[in-house]
Amino acid sequence: MEIIRVTGKNKLEGEVQLQGSKNSALPILAAAVSVNGISVIHNCPSLTDVDAAIKILEHIGCHVSRQNSTVVIDSTDVDRCDIPQHLMHEMRSSIVFLGPLLSRFGSACVSTPGGCEIGLRPIDLHLSSMRKMGAVITEDSGVLNCSCNGRLQGSKIVLSFPSVGATENIMIAAATAKGTTVLINAAREPEIRDLAVYLNNCGAKIKGAGEGTVVIEGVKQLHSVEHSVIPDRIIASTFMAAAAVTGGKVLIKGVVPSHITPVISTFEEAGCRVDTGASRLYICAPKKLNRVKTIRTMPYPGFPTDSQAIVMSMLCLAKGTSVIVENIFENRYRHVHELRKLGAKIDVEGKIAIVEGVDTFKAAHVCAPDLRGGAALVVAGLAADGLTEIENIKLIDRGCQDIEKLLRSLGADIVRVNAV
Ligand code: EPZ
Repeated sequence: MEIIRVTGKNKLEGEVQLQGSKNSALPILAAAVSVNGISVIHNCPSLTDVDAAIKILEHIGCHVSRQNSTVVIDSTDVDRCDIPQHLMHEMRSSIVFLGPLLSRFGSACVSTPGGCEIGLRPIDLHLSSMRKMGAVITEDSGVLNCSCNGRLQGSKIVLSFPSVGATENIMIAAATAKGTTVLINAAREPEIRDLAVYLNNCGAKIKGAGEGTVVIEGVKQLHSVEHSVIPDRIIASTFMAAAAVTGGKVLIKGVVPSHITPVISTFEEAGCRVDTGASRLYICAPKKLNRVKTIRTMPYPGFPTDSQAIVMSMLCLAKGTSVIVENIFENRYRHVHELRKLGAKIDVEGKIAIVEGVDTFKAAHVCAPDLRGGAALVVAGLAADGLTEIENIKLIDRGCQDIEKLLRSLGADIVRVNAV
């Protein structure tokens, strides 16, 4: 079993190139099923979740090749509309194959998805939206049998919550549905806009992506396309936190600063100097971080829930007490138990976490509870006195490309080893 070993207190300095966005690449890979041709996707990160998406594509008959960060998907010969449970369970984003399969075949057989255990993560919004577009969906012991006679039907859909995944499923399904779909209360994340750019370059007619109302006029067919995935804004916040906890100075290249405005202001409130330019961000940390009064996670453009654990790790070392309110997922504090092993002082009351700053972390043996919680433990280990060991790092590999190599290039004393 692989673990990460990190000896803390090295100041991080230097520059790092940001990976492509996991949460943009995954829905685009799923959308490639709707394209009757070839999709060339550049800046696709090398992650186990991307591997899982490629396994699904190959299972249904796509020909997929990969050259460094470019993935080429030929969907001309897709011939299956079922995804076996073991492939569905590998990640959450597998549910976003439902829309493309229904739009391509008029039927689909999938099961409930996997993904980080940060809450119940129901898929009711996905299913009710597909039903609104004419799909008949029956569930039998976790297996969803879906069909629509011929093509899905454009419809007016109002989401009770701006779900990222449901927005993606609807946009992809509606792109080749009959008629027009008006999606109200859509998710506004940058990854939604990136998916719409990809689909429109395939010939779709999508307007308003990234705003609250998206209008999709169905077209008959989507054609071959070349696309470059946007940078990963959450990994940007991860490297910012790594610099912040070590009193470091790091230049992050390839970032889109406007994608992380609330994150930047949080780091500035914590006492960091943050300079941004076109696709670059320079962060210079203070000797001692200030507390941040309150952080509330919200749908975009609010503070991203995916950066919550990483920023909590940083605030454990601040002067004073910070308050975090996790409004998106009901079980997204599983990293608190692990941070406490490192000496953190955190109280959790429902969705509120009260983080009392301590002088330093003490090294410990900890276990990644999920992707972002695992990244938060790596950040904490960078600042801890002594050698911290982190297990269950396969969860970190789902979303962080080469994390220990990149941190080592910034001066961290960190390795990945095989522990018996
Ligand atoms: C996406 O998950 C991201 N994953 C998550 O990132 C991210 O945290 C989340 O959006 C919110 O930004 C990918 O893009 C692969 P949601 P998703 O549907 O689509 C509830 C990471 O670490 N909900 O916006 O699953 C749900 O339970 C991951 O990279 C329903 O109730 O998120 C949650 O409370 C973690 N019914 C809230 O909405 C539904 O049908 C937000 O979920 C769907 C969602």
